[in-house]
Amino acid sequence: MNVNLQRKTDLDTPCLVLDLEILDQNLRKMQALTERAGKRLRPHAKTHKCSILARRQMEVGAIGICAAKVSEAEALYRAGIENILVTGPVVTLPKIARLVALRAKAPSLMVVVDHSGPIDLLSTALGDQGLTMDVLLDMDIGLHRTGVSPALAINLADHILAHSNLRLRGIQAYAGQMQHVRSYNDRKKGSHQCLQQATEIFHALQTKVPTCTVLSASGTGTSDIDLDILELTELQAGSYACMDAEYLAIGSAEDNSRFTAFGPALRLLTTVVGVNQDGYVTVDAGLKAFYRDGAVPQIINPEYAGLRYDWFGDEYGRITGSGSVRMPPLGAVLELVTSHCDPTINLFDRYYVTQGPKVVDTWSIDLRGCSQ
Ligand SMILES: Cc1ncc(COP(=O)(O)O)c(C=O)c1O
Repeated sequence: MNVNLQRKTDLDTPCLVLDLEILDQNLRKMQALTERAGKRLRPHAKTHKCSILARRQMEVGAIGICAAKVSEAEALYRAGIENILVTGPVVTLPKIARLVALRAKAPSLMVVVDHSGPIDLLSTALGDQGLTMDVLLDMDIGLHRTGVSPALAINLADHILAHSNLRLRGIQAYAGQMQHVRSYNDRKKGSHQCLQQATEIFHALQTKVPTCTVLSASGTGTSDIDLDILELTELQAGSYACMDAEYLAIGSAEDNSRFTAFGPALRLLTTVVGVNQDGYVTVDAGLKAFYRDGAVPQIINPEYAGLRYDWFGDEYGRITGSGSVRMPPLGAVLELVTSHCDPTINLFDRYYVTQGPKVVDTWSIDLRGCSQ
């Protein structure tokens, strides 16, 4: 959808802006890194929550898209994307019914499983419709959130194999606890140790299950690290497209104080609405605009670099000064790299897509609120 607004400075705030040039650089870079390593990319849509952006990732070469929830997968399907992996366990009967209904329309839909109970329920629901489905065994390699422990993984694989309408395609192993480890060397060592647990099970399964060909893993923070792992077949990175202050502050192979691989495509614009206090000014973006997690949003206007954002209640933020930097006047618009991008994006209806100073499009954040 084209917008009447022509310039970024005309946008009302708070709003989310996506810099198209940086976004496309990020998409092409991750795709190239993955292909150079002989792997495939299945980016996670839980970050950007936008089917237009997901389609752009597929146009650049992604083999499919990850969804955290069934409702995200449904929205992606409605937007014309069929090759979807649901990366979270689907446990309740209503959601299993929705998953099976989606599988009836999208034969390439895959889901992860990590427990015998939901496996039985899924198989029964598929059987009622005369359907089969591809599944990945979700392994807990240290996050301790979902997934089966390495010690029980082979038993659970046998349980899957006992259901003729489930096809075991491989393993998912996401080491979320490693993604933001600041030191590159510690992150590398930790991620390789975690993933070794998955590669051992992957080898064991491959000897007895010919369909077991997928090892899907990794996030933005360990993407370059995990591409070295021979057995890994596909990368599930998500944040690399938009990026946020938390990721930009971790170390990289080139620079131990900065993550240099991907640029901050996502920004939030906020306006100074209060200047009546000494020592700080008030802006119109608070808890309902920036998720309070990850890292503090970073001001990127060069003239205000060095000023600091802090949350100041639901609707407001506080900008405090440092040294000689001039405070922004009433009505000034600040541009900030966001705190944790996924839940921040989930607070907005649309991205304003910009090329330099121009607003060239708006993209609906159509997976927003798909939390079921
Ligand atoms: C299962 C899974 N895979 C991949 C990702 C993508 O990670 P990142 O956003 O760090 O790239 C996530 C993010 O939480 C996830 O939960």
